Order: sequence, then structure tokens, then C-alpha cells
Amino acid sequence: MKRLSYDLASVCRKRFSPEMDFVLGKVSQSQLAALLQEATASFSYRNDLDGTNENNENRVSLYACLYNVEDIQDGAYHYDSTTHSLRQIQPGDHRLLLQYGMSLDIMNFQQVPICIHVVGERDHSKTQLGYRGYRIQQMEAGMLVQKLLLASSALGMNGHPLLGFDVNMCDELYKMDGPQRKTSLIQIPIGHYLNRPWLKGSLHS
Ligand SMILES: Cc1cc2nc3c(=O)[nH]c(=O)nc-3n(C[C@H](O)[C@H](O)[C@H](O)COP(=O)(O)O)c2cc1C
Repeated sequence: MKRLSYDLASVCRKRFSPEMDFVLGKVSQSQLAALLQEATASFSYRNDLDGTNENNENRVSLYACLYNVEDIQDGAYHYDSTTHSLRQIQPGDHRLLLQYGMSLDIMNFQQVPICIHVVGERDHSKTQLGYRGYRIQQMEAGMLVQKLLLASSALGMNGHPLLGFDVNMCDELYKMDGPQRKTSLIQIPIGHYLNRPWLKGSLHS
């Protein structure tokens, strides 16, 4: 996959959280591949934790529930950014489960083909770094969310970040019961959308 190239200003102008305005449209395998690759590739940054090793895939990673994506079986997946591949964890259409997991019914998951979870570790760097470890993980999850939202918009879709979701249910869905104590930090449904019936004016008339 080649990296996406897009105009930041126009992508930012198109970006908004669609809420009830998601509409189920066709998502191709290459669109999904570009989304996942662009978000993880653009995420990498210099810091004192990686040292010379730029590979920070272990601190935050991407999991996703997919529905009706071209040539990909519906199911829950882990995205491996080093090999740029998806590993299936649980096949099936999980949209209803995601709907039940919402604390407020502000979205209709039936209209959403991609629901990404940014995942971290419960005890991330706590022993070595204490609260700093926790803050780093929160910051990196936020950075990855930002990259996902921009990449979605660049691909003609949009995402709606959500913290009001059932974390334990998602962790079970992705079978995160291993010794790494992974957990879902934030949920981002992504898909096509209808334009809001709003009037917009420019500040630069
Ligand atoms: C970290 C984060 C958590 C959010 N959690 C929720 C949520 O639980 N429920 C919700 O309806 N919106 C949630 N949102 C979406 C915001 O309501 C929305 O992004 C905000 O209204 C700004 O609108 P915009 O994304 O269209 O610019 C969240 C946004 C962020 C950045």
C-alpha cells in the first residue's frame, strides 16, 4: 500500500462526527487497508521511550469489527501494523452487540461497516513509569484516534469517537483475556455518511 496523500485543510473541513447520519455504503478492501495503514504509519513519532527503535506497535494497537467490507468476512479482527494484515478473532456480524454496548443510543450501528477499537494494556508501563505510563498511553490513544479520523475523512468517510461503550463486552469479543491484560480504550465507528442539513457560512468572506 502506498501512503495516502491528501489536502489537510479540505479533509479537516469535511470532518465531523456523523452520529445518526451514518449510512451503510460500499467499503472496498483497499479503502480499509489504506485507512489502517495510514493511521498507523502517520502515528509514528520520535520519543524517549522507543529509543532508536521506531516500532511502537506494542503500546497502542488497532482492533476492528467489520461488516460488509468487500472480500473480507464479517467479524472481529486484530490489525497487525508490522505485517499490514488482519487476524480474525471472532467471525460474524457484531453490529447488534456493539449497539447493546452503547450507554446512550445516539448511533445506529446497522449503518456502520467499520468499528475500530484502540487497544492498550491495563498495566501499561505502570511499574517502570507510574502515572506517566498511564498518561502516555492515553495520549497515544488520542493521537491514533486523530489519525484515524483524518484518514477516514480523506477516504470520503467519517468517524465518531465514543467513550460511552461497554469496554468489558468488547474485550470479551476480542478475547483479550491473555497475560498482557489488554483492554479497549476508545471506540470509533467509521463509515459513509449523509451530509447534515445545516447551513454553513465562511469566516473568510
Ligand atoms: C475522546 C472523545 C470521546 C467521545 N465520546 C463520545 C461519547 O461517548 N458519546 C458521544 O456521543 N460522542 C462522543 N464523542 C464525540 C464528540 O461528541 C464529538 O466529537 C464532538 O461533539 C465534536 O464534534 P465533531 O467531532 O463533529 O467535531 C467523543 C469525542 C472524543 C474526542
